[in-house]
Parts: sequence; structure tokens; C-alpha cells
Amino acid sequence: MLQAQLTIDPAHRVAPVRRRTFGTFVEHLGRCVYTGIYEPGHPTADEEGFRGDVLALTRELGVSTVRYPGGNFVSGYRWEDGIGPREQRPRRLDLAWHSTETNEIGIDEFIRWTRVAGLEPMMAVNLGTRGVQEAVDLLEYCNIPSGTALSDLRIANGAKDPHDIRMWCLGNEMDGPWQIGHKTALEYGRIAAETARAMRMVDPSLELVACGSSGSSMPTFGTWEATVLEETYDLVDHISCHAYYEEKDGDLAGFLACASDMEHFISTVVSTADQVGAKLGSRKKISVSFDEWNVWYLSRVQAAEPGQDWPVAPPLLEDHYHLADAVAFGSLLITLLRHSDRVAAACMAQLVNVIAPIMTEPGGRAWRQTTFHPFAQAARHAKGDVVRVEPVCPTYETAEFGAVPVLHAVATRDETETTLFVVNRSTAEPVELELDAGALGAGTGAVRIVEATTLTHEDVYARNTADDPDRVAPRPNTSHRSDPLRIVLPPVSWNVIRLSRA
Ligand code: AHR
Repeated sequence: MLQAQLTIDPAHRVAPVRRRTFGTFVEHLGRCVYTGIYEPGHPTADEEGFRGDVLALTRELGVSTVRYPGGNFVSGYRWEDGIGPREQRPRRLDLAWHSTETNEIGIDEFIRWTRVAGLEPMMAVNLGTRGVQEAVDLLEYCNIPSGTALSDLRIANGAKDPHDIRMWCLGNEMDGPWQIGHKTALEYGRIAAETARAMRMVDPSLELVACGSSGSSMPTFGTWEATVLEETYDLVDHISCHAYYEEKDGDLAGFLACASDMEHFISTVVSTADQVGAKLGSRKKISVSFDEWNVWYLSRVQAAEPGQDWPVAPPLLEDHYHLADAVAFGSLLITLLRHSDRVAAACMAQLVNVIAPIMTEPGGRAWRQTTFHPFAQAARHAKGDVVRVEPVCPTYETAEFGAVPVLHAVATRDETETTLFVVNRSTAEPVELELDAGALGAGTGAVRIVEATTLTHEDVYARNTADDPDRVAPRPNTSHRSDPLRIVLPPVSWNVIRLSRA
């Protein structure tokens, strides 16, 4: 058994926990929308066709914001296709995912779904095939109360109240050669600046997100952010980061350390943004919108099967997550929380069926994937302030990141409770963790563990299925002892330890 120590000191406050850290993403991709959130005729569907089982799981997940409608999809999307009478809506080729988009769901239905689910919408505009005018038209349609052509059209379509969308993404992954309308940093920076300027003429209080890099391994990483921000600095609030991770070549230990890349990604983007700010003589700080992150087995089949030409809502990107995926995922979430001073928002990509914590059968059951649990627990228990903690623990060598600590952790704290989120990345060894929580107020010995749960499994590749939905789920960890306060964390595990004054 490995030994580790960790001190929790409220003086090491990072920032308040931001609810928008717990955002997600719904794209018109595969079965995320159709047979995901929406399936008229499903036994649990409401009168609008929204699946009640998915709504219940979405609420349980504790999601705050939801990005829509893409993703790569948005770069070819005509938002006008998705409004008005359904029978008149066109079917279109979705070039991004080689699918047919029926437009049964559009902006008005999506906003109704967010209201029922209790989520804040975050909208992306198409800067791939479209530009300033279409973005401003969409903003007018969504946010102007009434009295203009497009706001009155929204009312005529049944949405009396404005959608009041505060956060807008200026395109999606425009640095990626796969993107429809892919641009150079300067081309994108210019169109993003012009779009932002026009949108702010409609409403200066909007929160705008410029596209950053689609991953830290992009050849333009760093220079892309610098160029884009030089064009847009005064006009935007956030720069996006996107990152997906997977186990490669059977290197589980390396995969479990993938948060080291996210750490490097955030620090580099923040420094680049600050450098641009300094160069421009600005005191403004740009924050990060990490609006796509997850485990994604990108190396596996992505496109629709040959012979399935332009299918409607085909099963795409339906990764079935195992325990190790959930532990890597938990470590990514810990990283986002640890950077709450500069990460203003984040979106786990995506919500249902497509690289998602929630899976559904068309017409049938819905269940929680392994990754559901770290997200739901953090969304529920991370309250008050984020407190930085640095476990003193053994390290292990990885090919990609060098020496990495076996434990990765963050704490949050409000007036009543302190919660420690910690993963054990060791693939073989349990860790006995001794906690020094004396600084929490009442001196050593006066703090106790109220509840400890662990997500682990003897088979690190164990998955949940519709037939066995709770195979991998958090279970009570009863190994904790006091004097000194300590607990055993199994290998490859995600742990939530709730502390309170005795
Ligand atoms: O989330 C899946 C895809 O990943 C999104 O459409 C795109 O933005 C990213 O490459």
C-alpha cells in the first residue's frame, strides 16, 4: 500500500465554484437530439416529445449550462430551417456528420427543453458557411422582446417571451481542417471580431466566446490564440478550449495522467491571453470556456457506415465508458475546478448517446454510463470556494508527461462542509491517504469524515449496460479512521470525501 498526506487549508482558496463548470453539450449529431433528448412516442415522452427518462437523468446529473447546436454541425447550419411549422421544415444534408438533418428540433424547441430541464442555454453561431448578418438575425430572433420582423416571427412561432441567451460561441473549431469553412487564425479573428462587434450593437452585455484551439496538439496551438485575441480582445469575454482523451496502445497509466495535458492546455492559453492583453495595454482578463472536453475514442469508427447514405440520426460516437474512463474523466473535472480562477465555463461533450454520460435505447431504456457518476457527484457536492490541495504522494513515470503524482485532487468548501475530490491513478496500488484538516477551524482531531464514496471496480474495463446499469457506481468507502484522519483509496478510483467539524 502506498502512503500519502494531504493538507486542506482554506487559505489556499482559488476562486468560487462556478456553476458553469458543470455545463454540457447537445449537438445535432447521431442520436443526441433524435432518440436522445427527443423521441415522440417514447413511453416517457411529454406532449412535446421530450423523453422524460432523459430529463430526469439530466436533472440528476446536475448540469448547469448546455451548448447548442454544435459542434461541427453548426458550421453548415441554417438556423431558419428549424423554426415555424414542422411540416414545412426542409430536410438538409449535414456535411459534418454525413447525415440527414430533419429539422424537427430547432431553436424554439431546444429552448423549451432547456426550460423544462432547468438549464442555461449557450448558443453557437455559424461562422463556417455564414457570417455577421445571420448571427445578428439569430440574436434578434432569440433575444429581442418584440416589435421587429424576427422577434415577431418568434412570437408567431409560439415563443412569446424572448429566449434571453446570454452566452454565445462565435463559431466552432475554426482552426480545424475538418471544419466546414475552416479558416486561418487571421481570417477567423477578423470575422469573429466583426460578428462580435455587430452582436454587441444589439446587446453590449452578451458574453461572447472566441474559438481557441481544438486541442493542444494542433500545429497552430498558441499562435492561433494570440492572433485571434489580437483581433478580438476588447470584443470577447472568453476563448474556447476543446480536448478529448483516450487510452492509446494499451497505456492505461499514461491515459490516467491525461489531465496533465489539460493542465498544460489551460496554463498556456491563459498565459497567451495575458500576453496579448499586456501587448494591447489592456487590464481586461480573458477567461477560458472549456466548452468541449471528455474521453472520446476518436481513433475508432466515426462516420456513418458505408451503404448508409445520409442516414437520419445514425448511432455515431456511441462510446461505452468503463471504470478507467470515469477515473480519467474525474481527473479532468478536478483540473477544471482547480483552474476556476480562469476557467469560467466548461461543457462536457456531450449529454446523451454521443460520447455521453447518458445512454438510451430508441423506444426503450436509459441508463447512466460510468462517467455520469464523477460529474453528478462533483456537481452536487462542489460548493462555496475551490481550495487548492497538493497531495504529498509517490509519482509514476509516463511516456507522454514524465513523472506524474499517483493522486490528483481538489477541495471545495462552504460554511457547513468541505469536500475532497481525489483520484488514485495507480493501476496496481491502493493509497492510504492521511488528511490534515486542522486548518478547517477547530484544530486537528476536530474534523471528521461525514461520508466517503468510491467509484472503482476489480475490472478496470467494467462498463454499465442497460441490463446491468449499476455495475460501476459509487459505493460507500468505510475504510476511514480518525486520529489521524485517514482513508484507503483503491487503485484506479474516483473518491468523494465529505468532511465536517466533529
Ligand atoms: O463533440 C464531437 C465533436 O468534436 C464536435 O462536433 C466538434 O466540435 C469536435 O471536434
